[in-house]
Amino acid sequence: MNKEFEGKYAVVTGGAGGISYEAAKTLAKKGLSGVVLADLNFEQATESAKKLEEEIGCHCYPCKVDVSNPEDIEHLFEFALEKMPAVHILINGAGVCPTTPIEDLDADKWDWCMNINLRGAHLCVREAIKTMKKQKYGKIVNISSVAARIGGIASSVSYAASKGGLLSATKSYAKVLGTYNINVNAVCPSVINTNMTANTNYSAAGIPLGRLGETEDVAEVIAFLASDASKYITGQGIDINGGSYMN
Ligand SMILES: NC(=O)c1ccc[n+]([C@@H]2O[C@H](COP(=O)([O-])OP(=O)(O)OC[C@H]3O[C@@H](n4cnc5c(N)ncnc54)[C@H](O)[C@@H]3O)[C@@H](O)[C@H]2O)c1
Repeated sequence: MNKEFEGKYAVVTGGAGGISYEAAKTLAKKGLSGVVLADLNFEQATESAKKLEEEIGCHCYPCKVDVSNPEDIEHLFEFALEKMPAVHILINGAGVCPTTPIEDLDADKWDWCMNINLRGAHLCVREAIKTMKKQKYGKIVNISSVAARIGGIASSVSYAASKGGLLSATKSYAKVLGTYNINVNAVCPSVINTNMTANTNYSAAGIPLGRLGETEDVAEVIAFLASDASKYITGQGIDINGGSYMN
C-alpha cells in the first residue's frame, strides 16, 4: 500500500461528497492517518466517514459545520485537534453554486454565496495556520473554479466572483505563509460530474479531451498539491479542464 501520507492529518470542508470526499479518499488510499470530513450535511458526512474507515481504514471524523458561521469554524479546528494530533492539510471544498441572474442577485443572495465560498475558506485558513505555523508545515488547497479564469458559464456572477476572490486570496496567503513552510495552492476545475452539476446539460463539445470531468480528475491533483512532491509549488491555480481553457 502507498504510505505517502502516513503520519499526516487533514481537515476537508465539503467532505461529505463530491470532489472533496474524493480528495479525502485519495489521500486515505495513499496512507493518510486521519481526516475530519466537515460539512453542513452531517448525515452524509457521517455515512462517508464510516465508508472511508471501513473500506480504507483511515481514521475519519465527521463534523457538522456551516462554513459561513465563524463559530462553527473555530469549533471545527478545536474538534480536529481533539481527535487528531495535528492538522497538516486543509482542503477548502465547501461550496455552493447559485445560478441567480444579475437582476435578482440582491445583497443577501450575494453575501450568501460569498460567505460560504470565500469568507468560509478564509476563516478556515485563519484557524488552520494557528497550528500549521507552530509545526512549520502546512498544505492548503483551495477549490476555486474555471469561473475564476473566464467568468461563470451557467453560474451566477457571485459564484465567479467568489472563486476569483479565492484564487487571488490563495496567492496572498502563499506570499506570507511560505516562510512557515506552508504551501497554499488552488485548483480550478471546469465542469465536474457531482451533485453540483446534476440536472444541468453541459456538453463535452469543444473539450479537447472529449469528456466532462470526474471527481478523480480533481482529487489526484489535490493530492499532488497536498504532498511533498509539490513542495516548491505555491500560490498557483492549477487548471483541470480537459483543455477547454488554456492559460
Ligand atoms: N462540480 C463542478 O463542476 C465544480 C467545478 C469547479 C469548482 N467546483 C467546486 O468544487 C467544490 C466541491 O463541489 P462539488 O462539485 O463536489 O459539489 P458538491 O455539492 O458535491 O459538494 C459541495 C459540498 O459542500 C457542502 N456545503 C455547502 N454549503 C456548505 C456550508 N455552508 N458549510 C459546509 N459545507 C457546505 C455540501 O453539503 C456538499 O457536501 C465547490 O467549492 C465547488 O464550487 C465544482
